[in-house]
Amino acid sequence: MSNENPTGKVARDAAQGTEQARKVLVTGGGGYIGSHTVLSLYAAGYQPILVDNWSNSNPVVLDRLETLSGMRPMHYKLDLRDAAGLNEVFTNNEIDSVIHFAGLKAVGESQHMPLEYYDNNVVGTLNLLSAMRGGACSKIVFSSSATVYGDPESVPITEQASLRATNPYGRTKLMIEEILRDLSASDPQWEIAILRYFNPVGAHASGSLGEDPNGEPNNLVPYIAQVAVGKLKQLSVFGDDYNTADGTGVRDYIHVLDLAQAHLSALEVLVPEHGCKAYNIGTGRGYSVLEVIKAFELASGQTIPFEIKPRRTGDIATCYADVAYSKKALNWQAKFDLQTMMADHWRWQKQNPKGYSE
Ligand code: NAD
Ligand code: WQD
Repeated sequence: MSNENPTGKVARDAAQGTEQARKVLVTGGGGYIGSHTVLSLYAAGYQPILVDNWSNSNPVVLDRLETLSGMRPMHYKLDLRDAAGLNEVFTNNEIDSVIHFAGLKAVGESQHMPLEYYDNNVVGTLNLLSAMRGGACSKIVFSSSATVYGDPESVPITEQASLRATNPYGRTKLMIEEILRDLSASDPQWEIAILRYFNPVGAHASGSLGEDPNGEPNNLVPYIAQVAVGKLKQLSVFGDDYNTADGTGVRDYIHVLDLAQAHLSALEVLVPEHGCKAYNIGTGRGYSVLEVIKAFELASGQTIPFEIKPRRTGDIATCYADVAYSKKALNWQAKFDLQTMMADHWRWQKQNPKGYSE
């Protein structure tokens, strides 16, 4: 474990009055959703403390966060599977609550490396929960995924829909959800919010924080963005024979800044007797692959060449959230529309054609 914490910067942060702020441990805080949430935490007056092993992110993000927030994030380079290191973090900091993003997230990769996924995601989470218990911290917001609904019986999907993940990645999310429900049932002290994200896209409006996939992107919008910037030649559209309006897959895309805000709302609802609750985090409306391409073309002024290819194994036709419960219970609602998501994603890609590795 290493704690790069340049003393001058910390002193300055303290001088700015963050000493009294509630400390929120953000696992995976260097990643795509984590980094945006760190910024929102600063804006709301919390003191985020990042833990990341940088396996799927770049420490340059710390410089970007410092520029945007005026604060150098306190951070530990640490793998969640390092139980002793994690315990030390809780011993050395009075952590109020945890937002747990750290995990591997590629569906295809998880099918080739299931053991690595179970080890990283499930063992990492068990260590985290044990360290929290040792450090007397019982509030956690967990990054789950709409993938736990598998191929849903109907849309929009409510939180009561049956849970049945269809790949190892999804099963790690489902297992962690079950662990959290068991933990909550065992001890009412735990205050747990499970956020089931739909399809996060977009970037901070400055264009200096965004999604920076390793290698060829698996997801639609990062792929389109790399075609638009000239890094990739053309997009493959996986199937145009689904039972949807134009035959291509329909998903509930949500702006990463709306997602970040949902974590703040979730932290607010964590109170004793909260128990363990799951919330859908989406916009409540779906867009097809062709609609997304069109919106990105409009935002970027670029033509996105594409070819219709066979369906991708494991894909479903349509997936979008029923957000009535999260709206009411979290007092939260997504604000950004598809066009803004695409414009912000494009700004990030255009300003950082090679992601953080320039
Ligand atoms: P990301 O890969 O950008 O961020 C995850 C971060 O966790 C990375 O910085 C990585 O280095 C770190 N990490 C991974 N394993 C770790 C470990 N063992 N110890 C310490 N750090 C570790 O991914 P993201 O898109 O920001 O996703 C964040 C979370 O949200 C993940 O749990 C993911 O499964 C979940 N989620 C993501 C999406 C999506 O489409 N992006 C959708 C639903 C759920
Ligand atoms: C969206 C649509 C594709 C790429 C995945 C995970 C899910 C969650 C979010 C973490 C689909 C089509 C895609 C491409 C395409 N992640 N597509 N060409 O599959 O809904 O969800 O990310 O939890 O678990 O499964 O998102 O962006 O990959 O696909 O035509 O090159 O775009 O078929 O209809 P998906 P996606």
